[in-house]
Amino acid sequence: MRPSNNQHEKLVLVCTNERTDGRECCVQKGSLELYEKLKTAIKAACQNVRVSKTGCLGNCESGITVAIMPRNIYLGEVTLQDIPEIVRLVRDQ
Ligand code: FES
Repeated sequence: MRPSNNQHEKLVLVCTNERTDGRECCVQKGSLELYEKLKTAIKAACQNVRVSKTGCLGNCESGITVAIMPRNIYLGEVTLQDIPEIVRLVRDQ
């Protein structure tokens, strides 16, 4: 193992976990569309921020779940309407 040169100041994780067994998951609630639009908005407004899809963040019933690192901010019930506020949080925190 060695340190990676691919370091970002902030990391935004969007849960894109999908379940097929009937349990709630973020993909059912539109997290793939949210991921694409949030990534575009953050890219336009912020530098040195990585937006990535991730697996389950353990908040399935209250998804869509988004986490902002390194501030350790977890957001639940995120919708497309929340994108401007998330961009502000990422930019200003
Ligand atoms: S499926 Fe998204 S938090 Fe669990």
